[in-house]
Amino acid sequence: MTHSPLPDPPGADLGRVRDWVREAVQLSRPIAVLTGAGMSAESGVPTFRDALTGLWAQFRPEELATEAAFRDRPQQVWDWYASRRAAVAGVEPNAGHRALATFQAREPGRLTLITQNVDGLHQAAGSPGVLALHGNLAEDRWLDSPRACCDASVAAGTLTDACPPACPACGNLRRPAVVWFGEFLPEQALRDAETAARTCALMLVVGTSGAVYPAAGLAFTAHQAGARVVVVNPEPSELDPVADVVLRGTAATLLPALLAP
Ligand code: APR
Repeated sequence: MTHSPLPDPPGADLGRVRDWVREAVQLSRPIAVLTGAGMSAESGVPTFRDALTGLWAQFRPEELATEAAFRDRPQQVWDWYASRRAAVAGVEPNAGHRALATFQAREPGRLTLITQNVDGLHQAAGSPGVLALHGNLAEDRWLDSPRACCDASVAAGTLTDACPPACPACGNLRRPAVVWFGEFLPEQALRDAETAARTCALMLVVGTSGAVYPAAGLAFTAHQAGARVVVVNPEPSELDPVADVVLRGTAATLLPALLAP
């Protein structure tokens, strides 16, 4: 009589991934972590789409988060970003952000942290060298290349309820320093992220639906280059098919367990 193998007990996958993390540390192999909006869910940050509630419910992100929309209706787009900034202003990193930062402090240079989030929570938790592929919500930059007259501190003083900050001399506008639909990602950050994906032994993909490229493609790159890929997400994601292990749980509960010494 043959026996079919018993199914893995609950927690077995968690144990396997913990072993992979420890192995990477012991053998001095690089780890990459790719995070998305779900990383900050337990901090109470509304996702991109959740942020379109109330007054904003009638819009789609693709209608507001573009350069064309900002040039056409600068005040409206600025106001939407102001509401997103306000939503993020009071939030704190959660146990998942802290677990990553603690691991990086304990194992300097071992882990490259790549994020699609613009909320700055990895940086607030103390993670060094975060590759922020989609920019940073807290920062502004010039819409057009700055001329000699363009002084950001002067522009900041021009902000009114009716107008985003602008250079009083030439009218150049300040815009949120995030990557809008149709824009290129920051070149150096993307290059560094691709290198990390190509060379890591283990990639943790945390809290992303895997629907937005080129960020989502990093998981495929890691998989094709022979890395172990682990998805951490309470729901199915488009990156589950490239994962060696899918952990169905949340960032704030699983990361501390995976990254503990
Ligand atoms: N822990 C882990 N994952 C979670 C949690 C949690 N607590 N809560 C939700 N998730 C998962 C969801 O199941 C979903 O798969 O996080 C994912 C969030 O998906 P999206 O909202 O699509 O976010 P993201 O993948 O980061 O989107 C990518 O799209 O909107 C643009 O530029 C924006 O950076 C963003 C990009």
